[in-house]
Amino acid sequence: MSRIEAPRDEVTGNLVDRLLSGLPAAAVLTDPDVTASYANDMASFCPSGTPAVVVLPRTVEQVQHVLRTATELRVPVVPQGARTGLSGAANASDGCIVLSLTRMDRILEINPVDRIAVVEPGVVNAVLSRAVEEHGLCYPPDPSSWETCTIGGNIGTASGGLCCVKYGVTAEYVLGLDVVLADGRLMTTGRRTAKGVAGYDLTRLFVGSEGSLGVVVRAVLALRPKPPRQLVLAAEFPSASAACAAVCRIMEGGHVPSLLELMDRTTVKAVNDLAHMGLPESTEALLLAAFDTADPAADLAAVGALCEAAGATQVVPADDVAESELLLQARRLSLTALEAVKGTTMIDDVCVPRSRLGDMLEGVERIAEKYALTIGVCAHAGDGNTHPTVCFDAQDPDESRRARESFDEIMALGLELGGTITGEHGVGVLKKDWLAREIGPVGLEMQRRIKQVFDPLDILNPGKVL
Ligand code: LAC
Ligand code: ZN
Repeated sequence: MSRIEAPRDEVTGNLVDRLLSGLPAAAVLTDPDVTASYANDMASFCPSGTPAVVVLPRTVEQVQHVLRTATELRVPVVPQGARTGLSGAANASDGCIVLSLTRMDRILEINPVDRIAVVEPGVVNAVLSRAVEEHGLCYPPDPSSWETCTIGGNIGTASGGLCCVKYGVTAEYVLGLDVVLADGRLMTTGRRTAKGVAGYDLTRLFVGSEGSLGVVVRAVLALRPKPPRQLVLAAEFPSASAACAAVCRIMEGGHVPSLLELMDRTTVKAVNDLAHMGLPESTEALLLAAFDTADPAADLAAVGALCEAAGATQVVPADDVAESELLLQARRLSLTALEAVKGTTMIDDVCVPRSRLGDMLEGVERIAEKYALTIGVCAHAGDGNTHPTVCFDAQDPDESRRARESFDEIMALGLELGGTITGEHGVGVLKKDWLAREIGPVGLEMQRRIKQVFDPLDILNPGKVL
């Protein structure tokens, strides 16, 4: 008996047949129930469409075949990693090819002399981190989703993470790329050397381009020597402002923490409710500081004293690495925990100069009051990168409207304070309207022209970023 297939209209049928001419059948998914599961990343409130087909290539040649087919038939392509993104950049558009890179997951090389790794885009961040650790090396960028997110997705969204305050963000670790262009040609950018300034920095251009300029199929990543295990200190503050003042004193004092994170009272309670972590709920703001230096206890003592001088009511250094790791787990759970508060969240990603962090958090409190909403804040405080997270009931139209308005007002406040609408989550569809406000008409026009150079037919993740 022949296999029963879902009816395909002529356009989709032709597209699928063409894709199958260069891809194995197992790499081409057309069952609508299955393809629908690829429609969204993790951002709420972002429109998404229905993909025509999902493809899961394993080789560069197969990706080239997909892009050639898309160009010939003028079909949009939405590149995807693990879909842990928070701005809708990986959301499908109607009739698109979802190009999932998750099966291109090989680590091709780890070179301790050159201190690089060469990887395919589907390698999971934590898998790479553990693999390079065996060579005494470290790949620092560590988004909270590091156990599931992929390097390709990290490059697409220019991910940050907890350790960026000391080690910097994804962009600082991407040395070179192989990229399949919209017409299927393969382009190599950058280098595998410690230095290199040959021509415009197209590598950097691709980092954070959210799949709108080409498809990354291989990356050369810089590695660092593995630092000693970090020790974490938790400091409780009677107000968010006092915690922000401590952050300023720590940075001003020349300290180099390996992370400096803040959780406000709402976030602490949400994490306790979800995971029973035993975090102190009487505090208004919990600051986590860590050092991975030769003598972390001494650094923590110095920073602890600064916290006390800024008004901390309790300063508790973790006893050991295991306890430190638990505190970080609690921090990484923040977003999931805040989601459980009311069922839906809109998560801001405003980054301000760290000297304005206190103004930012005070402003968020005012906005929460004005709209009568719960807004929990966790922040990469040492970077000035805040995640005010609006918790609301999506079934309640009035609350949803207020959530959207407060979400926007938080971005306006960030810009007023000299910040950016997104420190590490990207623009996607969620912040498209805001990009123009941040970069202005001239900047926007130049960005649009760059997009045209790489994607003249507008088939690469159309409707995202610009
Ligand atoms: C974090 C994600 C939301 O900082 O960026 O946990
Ligand atoms: Zn973050």
